[in-house]
Order: sequence, then structure tokens, then C-alpha cells
Amino acid sequence: MKITVAGAGYVGLVTSACLAELGHIVTCIDIQKDKINMLQNGRSPIYEPGLESLLEKNLRNGQLQFTINPHRAYSEADIIFIAVGTPEMQDGSVDLKYIHVVSHTIAHYIEKDVIVCTKSTVPVGTNDLIQEIIHSRKPPNLCAEVVSNPEFLREGSAVIDFFQGDRIVIGTDNPETASTLEQLYLPLKIPIIKTDIKSAEMIKYASNAFLATKISFINEIANLCEKVGADIEEVADGIGRDKRIGHHFLKAGIGFGGSCFPKDTKALVQLAGNADHPFELLEAVMKVNNRQQFLPVLIAKETIGSLKDKKIALLGLAFKPDTDDVRGSASLTIVKELLAEGAVVRAYDPAAIPNAQKILGDTIEYAYDIRFALQDTDLAIIATEWEQIKHVPLDVYRTFMKNPIVIDGRNCYPLDKVQKYPMTYISIGRPAVNKAQQHDDLRLNNL
Ligand code: UDX
Repeated sequence: MKITVAGAGYVGLVTSACLAELGHIVTCIDIQKDKINMLQNGRSPIYEPGLESLLEKNLRNGQLQFTINPHRAYSEADIIFIAVGTPEMQDGSVDLKYIHVVSHTIAHYIEKDVIVCTKSTVPVGTNDLIQEIIHSRKPPNLCAEVVSNPEFLREGSAVIDFFQGDRIVIGTDNPETASTLEQLYLPLKIPIIKTDIKSAEMIKYASNAFLATKISFINEIANLCEKVGADIEEVADGIGRDKRIGHHFLKAGIGFGGSCFPKDTKALVQLAGNADHPFELLEAVMKVNNRQQFLPVLIAKETIGSLKDKKIALLGLAFKPDTDDVRGSASLTIVKELLAEGAVVRAYDPAAIPNAQKILGDTIEYAYDIRFALQDTDLAIIATEWEQIKHVPLDVYRTFMKNPIVIDGRNCYPLDKVQKYPMTYISIGRPAVNKAQQHDDLRLNNL
């Protein structure tokens, strides 16, 4: 089958490379010439484990091509995947401008019957809109069937997720279209759920909102654990053993970030509001998350007092390990707050420094080496649990920092290990180690 993927962003690229790997002829189109040039040379514009080698291999064997030419991309396609961005607007609703543009372009350039599959995360009802745009503008003799086919890829493990996902959702009322897509995905041997368009659209939002809820819930339990002297790691293990709850997404920390959870929870709250059904639970999930992202700065203040002119090492800028993405990252909130308090920040990240620099510019220093990041600092904050960060020997903090005070926002170190070292260590939802008590009230008052 000839497949076209519209959008060479994170979803579009992974989808293109993986479908080519499955044996399809794939053309990926984007309006950004620089990006397409880079991809034509086999280089990935995003950091995603396993992606670049798939791109290189499938470019070389002719299964995959990149273009900015809409005629070349759409005229011959049997299936078109829409994977363009759906950014967040100021009021939290979804900006559908790229969806509009791509729908018009598809209608203009198709020259044969086609299935149009929407992978972009779009509010319920958007696929009807896409169908309407394409139908009213396409050549009348052609048939274009629009399907909702949401993706559940996680950044950092997107290639594995494509081949080993938990389910594939196909939303269409046309059984013939559903069956064509089923054939396309059959080699993956992943369970396929066939449903109507609106339910497919809602599955994507409800999945992300539920996972976000799980995180805010465990973070609230963690905050409570600290107040009553319990240990969140023990508690999460204890509740996770109940199969109805499960261990996934019970890792307490400084909140969720990324391009999906913050945006999608807000969008669902918006959608609910528009449907005259305020989603109070999700509003609380977002509130808890915003508060959680501030936590390291509050802990820093209660531990060392004023942060003015204090040197602070920030370990991790990406919103999670194995990605260079800083969108929605707790680190951005932390930096903003630290700078407002007059602190001097030096940040380390193995992959995300270039993306962070685009947002933070030279307001902070950047370190490509953890030891250099820690050198002569008054305090360190761990914001992302990269392997490189998790495995820093505890001795290193003592050797390089002015004062070995570590605020671990991702609970990277086992407490019994830390207790053997003469250092101050404060993590999330676990008893603090060697913490001075003099500034304690701040954080508890803010919780
Ligand atoms: C998410 C969904 O998992 C994926 O299905 C969807 O397609 C896109 O959004 P992603 O944003 O890549 O994927 O990251 P994910 O691994 O889900 O983590 C999101 C955030 O939650 C990260 O900031 C992570 O640190 C945080 N998190 C995750 C926790 O704080 N605790 C957890 O237990 C799990």
C-alpha cells in the first residue's frame, strides 16, 4: 500500500519510519524545508532511541521518502495519516489551524480514492470537521473516508511502542474502511479495537487524562506520607500489588510534563466545560500538578533559607528521560522560580540542552558534564531521572558541591544507601535525610 504521512513531527516521523519498516512505501510530507532536507540525509530532527537507524535503513532501501511537494505526497496515496501538530491555545483549547490546512491540501491534491487517518490528538468532533472539509472540496468522483486512529506512543520508547503497543484504535462507521486498516496493522499482532469515530477520539483523551490522574493521585499521597511519616515507595508498592490498580504510573515526583498530558488534560476540561459538564476531578489533577512542579523550590527555601546568589545545580531539563523534549517540563518551572528568587542556576542534561536553550537562552549556565554542573554549588535539584543522573555515585556530590544538599524530585536513590553518607537528601514522599529543621514551615504551609 502507498502511504503518506502528513507532518514530520514526533508522531509523524515514528509512524513513517515504522510503517516503512513493516514493508509499506511511505512518503512523509512537511512544510518545513530545513527539516525535510535533514531527513532526506537520514538525520533525525528529534532525539528518539532507535528512530535514526530506522530512518537511515528505509531511506536507503527506498521504502521511505521525504518531500515538501503536496502533489507528490497526496496524488498517489492509498492511505494518508494526518500527524500534524495540534498546539494549545492561550485559553487551554486546541488550535486546529494545521488540521484545517492539511485537510484543504489533501482535498486539493488527491487523484484517487483514499482513506484519511487522523493520528493527531484532536477534540471529539474534529474528524467530522475534517470529513466535511475534504468532502466539500475534493473532486466529486473520488471517495475519501476519514478515520480516527489515535496514537499512544510514549516519547523515549516510541519505536518499541509502535511495534508492541497495547491496542490499536480504529474509529469509523464504515466496516470496509475498518477492515483495510486492520489489514495494514495485522502484522503487528496488536489487539485492534474497532469503534465509532467519536469514541475513538475520546479514548485518546480519556487514556491520557486517566494516567495524569494516577500521577497526581500518587503525588498527593506522597505529600501526605511526608506529613504523617510514611514512605511513598512502600505505599506505592503496597497498593500497586492490587491487580486492579497495578504498578504503572505510581511513581511520585515533581509532576508530569511533556507535549501530551498537560495539553490533553486541559483540552478535556475545556471540552467538558463546553458540553456543560464541568470536569472538576481533572481540574484538581492539573492544580496538583502545577503545585508539584514548584515543590523543589519550596524545599530549597525551607532547607537553606534565602536563595539569593545561591549557586544551584539542576540535573535534568527534559520532561522525562530518553528524550530531548522540554515541553511542559518541571525544570522550566523550577528555573523560572529559582531565577525569581535571585539564584544562579547551572543545568545539566544529556540531550535536552539545545531545546532548553531555545526557551531559557543565557538566563542560566549549561553544563555538559554532571561534575561541572555540581562544582561549588550550594544545592542540587534532580528533575529528570536519566540513567546518567541516577547512577552518579553519592561521593561525587560531596566532592564537588560546596554543601552536599540534594533535592531529589524523582526519588532516584534508595534511602538506605543515602543514609550512609554525610549529606542532606530530601526526596518526594519519603523521610528526609539529615535535613536542617529551621525553615520547615514554608512548605507545609504551601501544601
Ligand atoms: C504520554 C502517554 O503515555 C502516551 O500514551 C501518549 O501517546 C503521549 O503522552 P509521554 O508524554 O511520552 O506519553 O510520557 P509518559 O512516559 O507517559 O510520561 C509523562 C509524564 O508523566 C512525564 O513527565 C513523567 O515523568 C511523568 N510520570 C510518569 C510520573 O511523574 N510518574 C509516573 O509514574 C509516570
